[in-house]
Parts: sequence; structure tokens; C-alpha cells
Amino acid sequence: MKLKTWLGILTAVVAVFTVQAQDMSEEAIKERIKPEGSVYIAGAEAQTAAAGGGGAKSGEDVYNQSCMACHGAGVLGAPKLHVAADWEPRLAERGLDGIWENALNGINAMPPRGTCATCSDDEIKAAIEFMIEGI
Ligand code: HEC
Repeated sequence: MKLKTWLGILTAVVAVFTVQAQDMSEEAIKERIKPEGSVYIAGAEAQTAAAGGGGAKSGEDVYNQSCMACHGAGVLGAPKLHVAADWEPRLAERGLDGIWENALNGINAMPPRGTCATCSDDEIKAAIEFMIEGI
């Protein structure tokens, strides 16, 4: 091959490397100057949106997020959503406050707060009220 051809190839290779190197450093710079905590902020916004613009989550939201997995189908004997026969004996024995307390602390296979560690006491109560609504 002629020297000119070699030089042409060499120039092309160098050019490709230069472009790649620039891309990489641009990426690296973008990564470095990315606002700190932007991922966290996006998450917080999503949570606020899910909660209907801030404040407490509705009982239905809490149920859908944390309770449905067991209380939808009655997993491990969990009283099922809107099934009076499952809830009435519990309510008759302990009342709403009693079952609320058990939901907060856990009872048998029912985990404390139904696994929603970030739910407030009132949000757990709202979820219970949603589950027993209309029974
Ligand atoms: C891992 C499965 C599971 C999840 C998740 C779960 N529960 Fe339960 N829950 C159970 C089971 C099982 C019982 C029945 C416990 C028993 O009486 O032996 C129960 C019982 C209850 C009771 C009745 C307590 C009583 O005193 O009779 C309430 C109230 C309750 N759950 C609320 C909730 C709420 C609210 C959530 C969501 C925030 C939730 N649970 C999530 C499994 C679950």
C-alpha cells in the first residue's frame, strides 16, 4: 500500500478516536454536573402525585400499594376486601380500634403496618376503612 493510503487510514482512525474521546468526556461532564439528588427529587414528586398532590394517601391507594397482595385473595387467611363474613367476627370482637391496633403492630401472619413502613397510623386506618367499606 502507498504511504498516502496509510496516512489516510491513520487520519481516519485518529479522527474516530478523537470524536469518541469527546463524546466520552461530554458524557462524563454531564454526569458530573448533574444536579445532586435529582433522582431523589423525581421520586418524591412521583410519590406526591400518587398521593393526590401531597398530604395523606387515600385508603384505596394504601390498599392497592400495600394490602392487596394478601387481602385481595385472602392469602394466609387474610380477611378479604369487602367480604363481610371475613371482617364481621373481627369487628364484633375487637371493634375498629382493635383491628386497627393489630394492623399497626401485626398479628400472626399479618405484618406490622401490612409492610407499609412509611404509612402513617391514619393512612393504615383509611386502608382498613376502605377494606370494610359497605359491609
Ligand atoms: C403478607 C400479607 C399481608 C399484607 C401485605 C397485609 N395483611 Fe393484613 N392480614 C394478613 C393476615 C394473614 C391477616 C389475618 C391475621 C390473623 O388474624 O391471623 C390479616 C389481618 C388484618 C386485619 C385484621 C386484624 C384483626 O385484628 O383481626 C387488618 C385490619 C389488616 N390485616 C389490615 C391490613 C392493612 C391495612 C394492610 C396494608 C397496609 C395489610 N393488612 C396488609 C396478611 C396481610
